[in-house]
Amino acid sequence: MSESIPEKTARYVLNTYARAPFVLVRGQGAVVTDSDGKSYLDFAAGISVNALGHADPELVAAVSEQMAQLGHVCNLFYSAPQAELAELLCTLSFADKVYFANSGAEAIEAAIKFARKYARETFGPGKTELVAFSGAFHGRTAGALALTAREKYQAPFRPLLPGVTFAPFNDPVAAEKVIGPETCAVFVEPVQGEGGIHPVTPEFLRTVRELCDRYGALLVFDEIQCGMGRTGRLWAYEHFGVQPDMMTVAKALGGGLPIGATLLTDRVAQVMAVGDHGSTFAGGPVICRAAQVVLQRVSQPEFLAQVTAKGELLKDRLYELNAPHLVEIRGLGLMIGVEFDQDVAPLIQAGHAHGVLMINAGPRVLRLLPPLIVTEAQIEQFTTVLGRILQETWS
Ligand SMILES: Cc1ncc(COP(=O)(O)O)c(C=O)c1O
Repeated sequence: MSESIPEKTARYVLNTYARAPFVLVRGQGAVVTDSDGKSYLDFAAGISVNALGHADPELVAAVSEQMAQLGHVCNLFYSAPQAELAELLCTLSFADKVYFANSGAEAIEAAIKFARKYARETFGPGKTELVAFSGAFHGRTAGALALTAREKYQAPFRPLLPGVTFAPFNDPVAAEKVIGPETCAVFVEPVQGEGGIHPVTPEFLRTVRELCDRYGALLVFDEIQCGMGRTGRLWAYEHFGVQPDMMTVAKALGGGLPIGATLLTDRVAQVMAVGDHGSTFAGGPVICRAAQVVLQRVSQPEFLAQVTAKGELLKDRLYELNAPHLVEIRGLGLMIGVEFDQDVAPLIQAGHAHGVLMINAGPRVLRLLPPLIVTEAQIEQFTTVLGRILQETWS
């Protein structure tokens, strides 16, 4: 008998992920199906990626047409999809320029380099300190990992990029103590994702903005997980009335294909010159066509309004479950964390048997990130099933 896919994966793929014990073969809207024909309501959306769900016809057509017309050229040549996507991103945000990358972590790496060069060119060589916050997650590459205050992730790989200071999240007084004349850039997730679905407070964000302005430091928003309509606004920062100097975007932007983007103002952009940074694949025609489709759709006011409405519905239904061991339900739009006083792994596992995909954010937070096109009926179905799971697991 031939090896199963999990066996083959274990044999040939480096084992850096804990995987669910089934093989997904197909997806349609907010539903995925495994190799046994069992369907699951997908409330993970590939960790905040599949905003338009699976197999969206417009996205599939755009990608197929572009691949058939021109698949890859590299950045030594112009291509229309890249220029058009950059224009769209700038029109729809604070930004004047875009640098394209291939993942979230790469977009963070680019922001680190741009900040370092901006500080050096503007103020001289001493201003290199980077500030990030407890609970934040910025990625697994060397620089992004240095900004991710998680001992377990960092310890095996030290020494990391030097010059990073951490402060407690949402603590304006602590921010005053760490942001100073040597600070080059401050990285903030407006809604922390991996850290447990924690929105920033407006007061904290305003303080950090003021401190960055006072000391000539750049404020970088990491909207890799919370951007692209996930919170009911196109960008999560719109909830808080504070704008960044740079912003990283990835995940949902590609609609399932890999992309990262670092958005910046002209003030920062003007320090970067030809040859300072680059990537072979980044900003290719296919991914940029895909991203245009996603961005055009999720930025429509009606689309964003329905994300907000469905987020409210999901929260209401979650409250109505009167779940045992519940600590808090929090989040914005369709980025919702349900914190319990127990580990949520058994709930996620039971979800597999019941046909729902969920993920966690830390051991005790159930993280709900359905595709933004999830229907009200699917939200009702999901919460009914979750009620059953809670009862079976904890009563
Ligand atoms: C806020 C945030 N930043 C950065 C990253 C890293 O993105 P990627 O996995 O595409 O490298 C993630 C991924 O989960 C994230 O949630």
